[in-house]
Amino acid sequence: MQDEVQLHDKVFKKFITEAEIQSSIKSLVERIERDYEGMELLLLPVLNGSFMFASDLMKEMSKNVSVSFVKVSSYQGNMQTSGRVDELIGLNSSIVGKHVLIIEDIVDTGITIDKVLTLLRAHYPAGVEVCTMLYKPEAYEGKNPPKYVGIEIPNRFVVGYGLDYNEYGRNLKEIYQLKEE
Ligand code: IMP
Repeated sequence: MQDEVQLHDKVFKKFITEAEIQSSIKSLVERIERDYEGMELLLLPVLNGSFMFASDLMKEMSKNVSVSFVKVSSYQGNMQTSGRVDELIGLNSSIVGKHVLIIEDIVDTGITIDKVLTLLRAHYPAGVEVCTMLYKPEAYEGKNPPKYVGIEIPNRFVVGYGLDYNEYGRNLKEIYQLKEE
């Protein structure tokens, strides 16, 4: 693992190793497989950041699971409506009566997860829970704290393992945090 990486104008220093990430994924999968024993599980990774975590999590799973990648888009409503409208793109099969596990790279303020949960609950799943690789409890202001957390981190900006700074850094195998100036 490099000690530091430069992305655009910022320098990031090493924070979480690949081994720590992979060991937290093993523990998460043990819990998830125990909790969903005998149930049909649908994983719903939220793009873009969660692609690497979702891939490693799935590779660790020994039971049959389905996956459907989704994206939250926010657009300006038409002339009659005011404000922004959220939409869930990519839900390619019915989730009625299914056990859904949302997969996130990071839960920060919790706004994204609250939006996804509201949109999903309108599709009548049997249950919805959240699994996130990283969680910043000090920044969290939402109503639905994640049930499955890989690693809790302080309220500092991080990159790597799917997470970006202006689209750079997603390819890094480890997680780096912003270096204080
Ligand atoms: P939220 O504040 O929980 O809604 O998080 C929104 C999104 O912001 C996350 O899905 C990430 O894409 C991004 N984000 C939050 N914290 C970080 C960070 O430390 N590094 C990179 N992206 C972040």
